[in-house]
Amino acid sequence: MKTIIYYFSATGNSLTVARDLAAGLDNAPVIPIAKVLSNPDATAYERVGIIFPVYMFGMPLLVAEFLRMVKIKPGTYVFCVTTSGGLKGRALSLAREILKKRGIELVNGFSVLMPGNYAPLYGAFSSGRQEKMFAREKIKVQEILAALNRKKSACCLMEEAPFLLNLLLYKLIYKYGAAQIPLSDKGFWAQGTCDGCGLCAKVCPVRNIRMEQERPVWLKHCQHCMGCLQWCPQEAIQYKNLTLGKKRYRHPGISAAEIAGQGEV
Ligand SMILES: Cc1cc2nc3c(=O)[nH]c(=O)nc-3n(C[C@H](O)[C@H](O)[C@H](O)COP(=O)(O)O)c2cc1C
Ligand code: SF4
Ligand code: SF4
Repeated sequence: MKTIIYYFSATGNSLTVARDLAAGLDNAPVIPIAKVLSNPDATAYERVGIIFPVYMFGMPLLVAEFLRMVKIKPGTYVFCVTTSGGLKGRALSLAREILKKRGIELVNGFSVLMPGNYAPLYGAFSSGRQEKMFAREKIKVQEILAALNRKKSACCLMEEAPFLLNLLLYKLIYKYGAAQIPLSDKGFWAQGTCDGCGLCAKVCPVRNIRMEQERPVWLKHCQHCMGCLQWCPQEAIQYKNLTLGKKRYRHPGISAAEIAGQGEV
């Protein structure tokens, strides 16, 4: 079955899952959502996978936009895989609802536990905990591949936390918080240790950073992905005072250049 994999990833977790899945699907093309947002067209494919992180119990705004736009031909096998730090939220249900409004069925929804990257709340997990998660991710990807290769089931397999807990957190945090996300970059600032290397601007998947006099300036159309903060080699980027002294996280198998590649058009 001709398959395409789309992904969004700030620190490499979702990109890793996307690549591992693609390797088991006849090396399906792995396409960054940020790169194709102007006209996403998957009509040449019979199976479409969309891989992205859970944000605030929901999904990145850019992924929601993609789901509202992507051209998919009738009868296509569509599946989503979320990566999350443990609280899976309603991202899969939300994806199903968005697609359903367009007459597209989300056939399967999976969730992979990965190290959390939300630096304002916590620093990088310990390396031992990360290693265990990475090992588990490889197993989980094989389970997903096996499920994909089984005959399509009548009911959608949605891997989410208990319904009521999810609904409550989603309504409290994502539903009302999502509108604030583009302007949330007013909380970012660069410390004096910034050496003007410009990597933060390169890794930003939506070009929300401009370098001015060798310092980053945030442009108010942020996804709040934490990519700039996590990849800064000097650890100079902070979010308010919430990230001072917190250990940064990047998936060790993914490079800054690979993350930067997803924003280049
Ligand atoms: C803005 C933001 C919100 C997040 N919200 C959640 C959440 O609600 N639940 C959760 O388990 N992890 C949450 N995370 C953690 C990410 O979902 C997780 O680390 C993900 O695997 C990161 O994927 P990436 O490396 O592909 O960017 C959040 C991260 C960010 C940046
Ligand atoms: S990545 Fe860090 S050091 Fe480089 S320009 Fe950005 S803030 Fe400065
Ligand atoms: S400015 Fe930083 S947090 Fe905002 S989208 Fe770009 S990389 Fe992500």
